Amino acid sequence: MSFSGRLNGKIAIVTGSGQGIGRGIAQLFAKEGAKVVVVDMNEAGAKETADLIQKAGGEAMPIRANVLNPAEVKAFVGQVVAKYGRVNILHNNVGGWQKEAHDTVVDDDEKEWDRLISLNLKSTFLVTHEVVPYMIKQGGGAIVNTITINAFLTQPGTAAYSAAKAGAFQFTRATALDLAKHNIRVNGIAPGEIETPLWIATYNNFPGADKIKASVLARIPLGRFGTPEDVAFTALWLASDEARYITGQIITVDGGITAGVYP
Ligand SMILES: NC(=O)c1ccc[n+]([C@@H]2O[C@H](COP(=O)([O-])OP(=O)(O)OC[C@H]3O[C@@H](n4cnc5c(N)ncnc54)[C@H](O)[C@@H]3O)[C@@H](O)[C@H]2O)c1
Repeated sequence: MSFSGRLNGKIAIVTGSGQGIGRGIAQLFAKEGAKVVVVDMNEAGAKETADLIQKAGGEAMPIRANVLNPAEVKAFVGQVVAKYGRVNILHNNVGGWQKEAHDTVVDDDEKEWDRLISLNLKSTFLVTHEVVPYMIKQGGGAIVNTITINAFLTQPGTAAYSAAKAGAFQFTRATALDLAKHNIRVNGIAPGEIETPLWIATYNNFPGADKIKASVLARIPLGRFGTPEDVAFTALWLASDEARYITGQIITVDGGITAGVYP
């Protein structure tokens, strides 16, 4: 794969980039020339991603922050603008589900419902809310949100997660309409089955994990699970000027899972 500086000169914030999909996005953005702000509540993970980027010759700034804490969000966005003077790209990637898959209307209590809705929906609002005023001031920007195919085709045991991500789906489109006049594009990515630490831990949690994995794999037309890099290539395109006429869209990256219904 050759790299051609498609994000040269851009400042990009990627949340939840201490591992998994976010790390893949941060690494690819940096390879394409962006200076990447690696935000994660896991400080060691953020540093590790930044080290990987720097060792590969890129520029990265690790920041430990909890994107559900408005004061911490305000502080880190201020820190980025103080250092670089602007934010060209924001990728809201923080999110997650229950490894135990007990996220049902019966099993969830109010606290668990609120936790999953915040993690998967409010997180995106809070960071976008802080970054957008700077993008308006500088005359534009690109925002990408990591959603999931569960926003439109869901699974048992993911009630609050799926509801929150469906919210993130429409938040993406509504925000695209609101911000178009400021030259800010807002798009989303709906990944399918992507091998990440969270995904691996979830499958390992099920009795008979190998059998379940094999049956899921059989429903993926392209015949393999996805990688963080598969998602990152779509994020790169949406964040780049090549997608200059694309806004309010959610692009599915799932190896074809949602193209059909299988016996
Ligand atoms: N892996 C998949 O198959 C898959 C499929 C569809 C959608 N997604 C979505 O992709 C995103 C990333 O998933 P992943 O599988 O890479 O997860 P992951 O758990 O492996 O990585 C998530 C990262 O986000 C960080 N994080 C969590 N809460 C945070 C917070 N409040 N503040 C700051 N950082 C926080 C974690 O420390 C971790 O480093 C999520 O939004 C998830 O819903 C994943």
